[in-house]
Amino acid sequence: MITQGRDKTERLSNADFTFICQFVYETTGIVLNDNKREMVYRRLTRIVRERKLDSFSDYCQLLKHQGAQEKDYFINAITTNLTSFFRENHHFDYLAKDELPRWLEQKEVQANGKRRLRIWSSASSTGEEPYSIAITLLESIKGDINRWDAKILATDIDSNVLATGKTGIYEYSRIESLKKTIKQRYFHRGVGKNENSARVDKKISELITFKQLNLLHEWPMQGPFDVIFCRNVIIYFDKKTQQQLFTRYYDLLAPGGLLMLGHSENLGDFQQHFNTVGRTIFRKPYS
Ligand SMILES: C[S@@+](CC[C@H](N)C(=O)[O-])C[C@H]1O[C@@H](n2cnc3c(N)ncnc32)[C@H](O)[C@@H]1O
Repeated sequence: MITQGRDKTERLSNADFTFICQFVYETTGIVLNDNKREMVYRRLTRIVRERKLDSFSDYCQLLKHQGAQEKDYFINAITTNLTSFFRENHHFDYLAKDELPRWLEQKEVQANGKRRLRIWSSASSTGEEPYSIAITLLESIKGDINRWDAKILATDIDSNVLATGKTGIYEYSRIESLKKTIKQRYFHRGVGKNENSARVDKKISELITFKQLNLLHEWPMQGPFDVIFCRNVIIYFDKKTQQQLFTRYYDLLAPGGLLMLGHSENLGDFQQHFNTVGRTIFRKPYS
């Protein structure tokens, strides 16, 4: 069994760490380098103990030979899922102040009498991002959702975070700092022993579909999307994977559609195909 020692990383051999890095890269696109060794060590230690194995090498063997379930469990343990409601609020502000008013004026009304709107939160983690999008939409259109055929797709590789997103139940502390009106309109605080949690209202949850999707794999969606959120995920990928993803996002966006990246992310060489319209907000040209 793995025990505490002086230099913890000593017992994660170079061979095992290299195997783990390669396995994670091939499965998820996430690049792990030496400064992630301690993180890998901590997360693996937990799994090795849970599995009652004797060493990291035994776990590497298990990963090599076990089926999809162990792989899923491992990937869930290795992903970083940090997120929050209205994180990097300038994106939601841009939607509310610039994009939604334009859509209201310019979006064609379809045969069903509604305006089509499709938004994809492509690394949605526990759901705070897609719920923030849904709230922004409903606030901007003053709840008049009947005039819209609006759908938000929320995907992530990690099945645990998706399960949280689907329940729509959060610790109350995660929404505490939101405006009072937003809390009142879109959240229901639990009572009694549940007072430390809050559930999202149906009017936002029914706009969202949560699905497991590995960005490296084939995407079953046809699009086109009006907005794609790809925030704080490509930072874990190498340039090659990033450029491949940008091409695929571009193809799936409607002309004039928006791509939102995270605060420390950029389009690199792909920048030439988009117009920058705000901080980490990029528009696919209309033609
Ligand atoms: C740091 S969170 C970002 C959450 C949210 N977009 C935000 O900015 O607050 C990164 C998410 O990317 C997901 N992820 C990592 N690799 C992925 C892949 N290959 N396909 C899909 N999702 C992936 C992780 O599971 C994690 O939930």
